[in-house]
Amino acid sequence: MGKAKKAEKVIYFCDGKKCCKYNKEIKDCLKDLVKDNGLKEKVAFEKMKCQGMCKQAPVLCIHKNECVGKVSTKDAKKLFEKHIA
Ligand code: FES
Repeated sequence: MGKAKKAEKVIYFCDGKKCCKYNKEIKDCLKDLVKDNGLKEKVAFEKMKCQGMCKQAPVLCIHKNECVGKVSTKDAKKLFEKHIA
């Protein structure tokens, strides 16, 4: 956390009341993917406040402009391939 300035890419997890109950799995999944691909220096993880999309928890955004809800680990893998890898 807090490495966003140096990192080329930032993945934001909604850490609001609702999402934080559901996002552990996708968080772990993405962290593992980043690590396994040797991208730890390039990708930062940040938390963000409730995005007002609680019905779609868990919510995550890549660079704040690509926000998605109802993210499963499968979706997380796809997002990683599309935006990060
Ligand atoms: S808690 Fe994540 S959108 Fe509200």
